[in-house]
Amino acid sequence: MGGSMKTTFHTTPIYYVNDVPHPGHAYTTVAADTLARARRLRGWDVFFLTGTDEHGQNIERAAREKGMDTQAYCDMIAARFRQLWDKLGITYDRFIRTTDEVHKRGVLALWSKLKEAQTPQGPAIYRATYSGWYCPRCEEFKDEDELKEPGHLCAIHERPCEFTEEENYFFRLSAYSSWLEEQIRSEVLRIEPAGRRNEVLAVIKQGLKDVSFSRARVKWGIPVPEEPSHVFYVWMDALTNYITALGYADHAPEYVKFWENADERMHFVGKEIIRFHCIVWPCMLHAAGLPVPTRVFAHGWLTRDGRKLSKTTGNTIDPDALIAQYGVDAFRYFFLREGSFGQDWDFTDGAMVKRYNSDLANDLGNLVSRAITMAARFGDGKVPVKPASLDGSNQGLEARFQSPKMGPDHSGPALLESVFERYEALDYAGALSLVWSWIGQLNQRIVAEAPWEAVKDPERRTEIHQFLYRLLEAIRLIAVLLWPVMPQASRRIFVMLGLPDTDPMPDALHWGVLQTGHPFGPIQPLFPRIDVTAGGPPTPANHPGSSPRASGPRKEKTVSEPTKPAAPPTAPPAAAPAAPPVEKPQEAAGAQIDIGEFAKIELRAARVVSAEKIAGSRKLLKLQVDLGDEQRQIVSGISDAYEPEALVGKKIVLVANLKPAKLMGVESNGMVLAASVDGRAVLCTFDADVAPGTKVK
Ligand code: MSP
Repeated sequence: MGGSMKTTFHTTPIYYVNDVPHPGHAYTTVAADTLARARRLRGWDVFFLTGTDEHGQNIERAAREKGMDTQAYCDMIAARFRQLWDKLGITYDRFIRTTDEVHKRGVLALWSKLKEAQTPQGPAIYRATYSGWYCPRCEEFKDEDELKEPGHLCAIHERPCEFTEEENYFFRLSAYSSWLEEQIRSEVLRIEPAGRRNEVLAVIKQGLKDVSFSRARVKWGIPVPEEPSHVFYVWMDALTNYITALGYADHAPEYVKFWENADERMHFVGKEIIRFHCIVWPCMLHAAGLPVPTRVFAHGWLTRDGRKLSKTTGNTIDPDALIAQYGVDAFRYFFLREGSFGQDWDFTDGAMVKRYNSDLANDLGNLVSRAITMAARFGDGKVPVKPASLDGSNQGLEARFQSPKMGPDHSGPALLESVFERYEALDYAGALSLVWSWIGQLNQRIVAEAPWEAVKDPERRTEIHQFLYRLLEAIRLIAVLLWPVMPQASRRIFVMLGLPDTDPMPDALHWGVLQTGHPFGPIQPLFPRIDVTAGGPPTPANHPGSSPRASGPRKEKTVSEPTKPAAPPTAPPAAAPAAPPVEKPQEAAGAQIDIGEFAKIELRAARVVSAEKIAGSRKLLKLQVDLGDEQRQIVSGISDAYEPEALVGKKIVLVANLKPAKLMGVESNGMVLAASVDGRAVLCTFDADVAPGTKVK
């Protein structure tokens, strides 16, 4: 889908190794990875580059502070970046380090081109003395009016700038002002969002100043051949990575394909480094006679309490801890969903838990487990019959996923197209909210259609099977659309649908891939809810798809306590029809118990994850319930009052410390509370959202 195949190249900034990675670095990298995946899914040829920036006085200082050899220190931190990217499922094609030989050779090759370049004002590279305020953390000279007073502070790092005077090699940036303005105005170089483009145009209007391209006092860098006591200015060195990584020094085929001839050359950057990428870098390339980037997107900052998340401001969060807490998919999802990519946004734990529980556990998780449980039950564990053709009466369940571009015989509005458009625009929140509005509609359709009722009518059986087929196909396509953001969760959905546990290929974007009669896989909870009732930090969830560290400690079950048979709940008849007859409740009517006796009964809120009938029993259902920190199997005699599918997602009350018992050979670890109305069970539920595991008193 989505037009002809393109050859595209995109990059993240290369990250300084002066400290370990933090979620701000992960933000850019996850966003770039999502675009790479979305494009590969469309069949495009993508080269995705990331890496580390290892030269300069900051790095030298950081190594010294750790008492380490500088190269060994760089090796150690670069490895930390790679580990985090591996954990987050980042599908980069190359990881470039500025201490790599191929990079050094590339920098020298570009330098010799720049040395040859001429401008109407003279050679592009010249020697001169420079003095000014230098921020060693930005590795940049600052204008006096940019400093925060008192103290000559850098506005970004809030640290003092140093007054520096030295003889350097300069790049004659001023000579390229009108050429650059034209590139930007004509959109040969697209700068996004529009506000950033205006910012760059305003800087050009003020007149560009030449930049120093070498540093005399810094030792840790690539020596300038003509003046070996100088090293290349760290930004000249760093920006060049975008071509050295592709083999610029050797005019390698990858360089030709993904730089010279690519349909798009794109850089993802944080907003603070836009001038380097939109002013210095294109002019360097142009001076050397090379093609310039076609698109630079400057995203906003991840902040905490309103301040940029960074080592210097001291408000970082450990990304590994976040992943252990929420899992890889939720981490990726939250970062792309919560903020608008071009804007700053503030990270809070509360917002992350909220999104996790409502978007992932409730909306997506329930849809998937409900639909597959139902389809498996009505269709004997197999994919139902595929409708012969698009059925207008079905209110567009499939039409929403069709696209005129997807195949000659399909028509209709196309969610797929719209979502890919949002991914291309780097409007990740927009792409996800489109998918979520569809998840919401599907959940509503299930309730409206009530297939568990309709299936009882033999005349409607075919119609219901077709509805279920469409529902499952919609879920499969939702999993495909979410794969760029949540690759592990998508694959888990594929497995439940009976598909292979592999990354989707472009042919997954067509309607009707599920094969009638194919068996489903085991149904697993996608996103177990996170318990926030304890008041402290959220209880670590056992995320099926996260790293091994993601498994939180499980609470000890209390059922093994050898106690006297527990007194029945205060309303004895309530439990009777719903509960397995673990122990026949004593006739308690009229008898009073004290609070201590009542306290022995552990009542907890639970969410039904799946439900199925027990073969050979008229009344018994086997439920899997989520108790926040564990999942349990319960057998309950409510089958005459509830269809299994109608129970999925319901919050119920569970007697959590009953001794385990077997009913019809099936183990039950607790009892569900219900009232008995004319012999039919009516479940006790809650009138507000309650997290699974919450104690009921
Ligand atoms: N080494 C330079 C970039 C050279 S590119 C040729 C550099 N490195 S950095 O380690 O400071 O990383 C900067 C990038 O990390 C930002 O541009 C941004 O992409 C990402 N982020 C770092 N902190 C961030 C936030 N708090 N929020 C969002 N992104 C952040 O600058």
